[in-house]
Amino acid sequence: MRQILFPKAGPPEVMQLVEAPDPEPGPGDVRVRVAAAGINFADISARMGMYQDAPPFPCVIGYEASGTVEAVGAEVKDLAVGDRVAAMTRFGGYSDVLVVPALQAVKLPEGLDLVAAAGLPVTYLTAWLMLMHLGHVGEGDTVLVHSAGGGVGLSALQICKWRGATVIGTASGGKHPRLREMGLDHAIDYRAADFEAEVKRITDGAGVDIALDAVGGESFAKSYRCLTDFGRLYLFGVSSFNPGLTRNLFAALKGIVKTPRFHPFNLMNDNKGVHGVNLGHLWHRLPAMRGMFDRIVELAGEGVLTPVIDATFDFTQAAEAHHYIQARRNFGKVLLTP
Ligand SMILES: NC(=O)c1ccc[n+]([C@@H]2O[C@H](COP(=O)([O-])OP(=O)(O)OC[C@H]3O[C@@H](n4cnc5c(N)ncnc54)[C@H](OP(=O)(O)O)[C@@H]3O)[C@@H](O)[C@H]2O)c1
Repeated sequence: MRQILFPKAGPPEVMQLVEAPDPEPGPGDVRVRVAAAGINFADISARMGMYQDAPPFPCVIGYEASGTVEAVGAEVKDLAVGDRVAAMTRFGGYSDVLVVPALQAVKLPEGLDLVAAAGLPVTYLTAWLMLMHLGHVGEGDTVLVHSAGGGVGLSALQICKWRGATVIGTASGGKHPRLREMGLDHAIDYRAADFEAEVKRITDGAGVDIALDAVGGESFAKSYRCLTDFGRLYLFGVSSFNPGLTRNLFAALKGIVKTPRFHPFNLMNDNKGVHGVNLGHLWHRLPAMRGMFDRIVELAGEGVLTPVIDATFDFTQAAEAHHYIQARRNFGKVLLTP
């Protein structure tokens, strides 16, 4: 098989396409011939040596892929050779052949594009956890979604619109027209305007019921101040700690210094909640996560949720793909195809 290896931390060019022996499935596993692998921001942080959960270098990362089952272990009941699946991978996703436990691979409904399905697992599960499982988003809610044009942002937007919520999104100005076409109610160019002031203006001072923030640092404090009574803030990343192509300890330190501490007394008196989410720390809850993912795939099959695939790069162009994301050019998911 072919894999994209990170031999050490560095810029996108550090990645190498290497050959490795094909893996054999164990009794509860399936082997998948990969159609596409999803790129996530965590992969980029890992490449830069800024992702604490990544395996040690040299490593092959990647949290998600889609493809066709080409072998099944003796104990696998619900998947067969030839089935089209989307798979959650605990690293190793940047490969043209994958072996995963059957619980991590979900059969795709007919009509769902196989390549696009690689963009389903991570962003939709993250958004689903925050908005559905924890946030109980519904009609009448107003939701602030940061980086609304990114993978998680667009997944969150689709879930919110399906549930009847109003969405305020922050994004680079160039992404606003497409976001509006996709149902975003209010777009804020966070570079041109202070998003906290804009949220207050848009909501006539009331604030939002839910805020999703993976920007980190000072943004966490500002998002908290955007909440209305009973508001919930979900913290799930720190993109602002990684502004360049290589590790920037100064930016990370600045972000850490500006990260707020939420005091219990203030939370009580403010009637607000702050919740952290890290999908990568939920592998021990796989059956529950699988239940949520089954529902996401079902909704994708019904056309309620549609992965937005911005660009597809060949495995040989992995460096270009990472550059594309780090230049903030992506609108939705970027995939790698073998
Ligand atoms: N905790 C979890 O379980 C979990 C799971 C998935 C993702 N995440 C986090 O969620 C965030 C978004 O992930 P994603 O996969 O949706 O990312 P993505 O598709 O790559 O989109 C990221 C968007 O964020 C904006 N951005 C802000 N700061 C950036 C920076 N320093 N470099 C590049 N883009 C930046 C850009 O939009 P603009 O041009 O509009 O600024 C960019 O398009 C990341 O921080 C990621 O680590 C967390």
